Amino acid sequence: MNILAIETSCDETAAAVVEDGTKVRSSVVASSTKMFEKYGGIVPEVAAREQLKFILPVLTEALAQAHVDYQSIDKLAVTVGPGLIGSLLVGVETAKTIAYVENKPIIPVNHVLAHIYANFVDNAGQISFPSIALVVSGGHTELFLMESEKKLQWLGGTLDDAAGEAFDKTARLLGFGNRGGLAIQEAAAKITNSKTTFHIKLPRPMAKDETLNFSFSGLKTAIMREWNTHNERSDQLIYELSHEVQESITDVLVSKTVLAAQQYHVKSVLIAGGVAANTRLREKFAAHQTEFQIHFPPTSLCTDNAVYIASYAYFRGQPVDWRCVDASPGLPVEVQDSSLL
Ligand code: KG4
Ligand code: ZN
Repeated sequence: MNILAIETSCDETAAAVVEDGTKVRSSVVASSTKMFEKYGGIVPEVAAREQLKFILPVLTEALAQAHVDYQSIDKLAVTVGPGLIGSLLVGVETAKTIAYVENKPIIPVNHVLAHIYANFVDNAGQISFPSIALVVSGGHTELFLMESEKKLQWLGGTLDDAAGEAFDKTARLLGFGNRGGLAIQEAAAKITNSKTTFHIKLPRPMAKDETLNFSFSGLKTAIMREWNTHNERSDQLIYELSHEVQESITDVLVSKTVLAAQQYHVKSVLIAGGVAANTRLREKFAAHQTEFQIHFPPTSLCTDNAVYIASYAYFRGQPVDWRCVDASPGLPVEVQDSSLL
């Protein structure tokens, strides 16, 4: 079954054709991230206008790369939320128009839950259930229990900032602009254990408590305080701060996920979202491979794209009347088994 998926929740415009939820026939992503460098962050109205500019070329390219036309598409899938209203509207209205004109079933998709299904691409048969899924993106840090491909239950999440946000804000503070977690990862890699000068120690917020919640806003304040105590802003200081912030965030993510995995006696752990691209996070989870299967999507499927939107639609989505598909910027992620969005 071929699903054509559309993703426009933030500043990426993406379309993909995926067969049976696991085989990528095409994936196209256009991003306006770079143009926001001069503003120090995303401007929602500008992001929406960029979505409008990109949506038709991206769709055309996704169909061309897959060598299909609308006739050979079985279903449509589209992100309806959470996200920026102006950006979401572009994808949702485009998908509804195609559904109406081409008479195709349409599946509304929750972007945050969909991230998890990047682990199913080329890998669905390898995942043993029950499973704990960690979604770590720019806006979300959430833990879910998965009893099957379809059954999801939210267990906990961040009480304030997301892990990706902590990476992004640190990157901005240290002079990396909008390059976010990847810039921190690259700067941290310049440190070898024997070569620290400042001996920076940041907190591991909530790492030791027994809840399945997270909090990263205090870490941001601690980084700022540390940065402000140094007059000399050398490269070495930037590398050491990057290293320690990456250690702190990844320690917390791993300890909470392992706690959830132990509490629910699961067989596997699925990590997803933009921060799942982080190499140090991958290393730390790999150390638990003897306790549970550890799954990460390929790096290219961690950050926003439409492949996992199609995969989610295939495994968990439900087609609805196109008239009932609406952009839903505040769509909750606190799902229980029975909710289908
Ligand atoms: O999933 P995503 O593309 O967008 C959202 O749905 O939010 O995630 C973007 C987030 C950003 O915070 C970015 O800094 C982070 O993923 N990220 C990383 C890495 N690559 C992307 N964080 C840490 N290490 C990376 N290598
Ligand atoms: Zn995302």
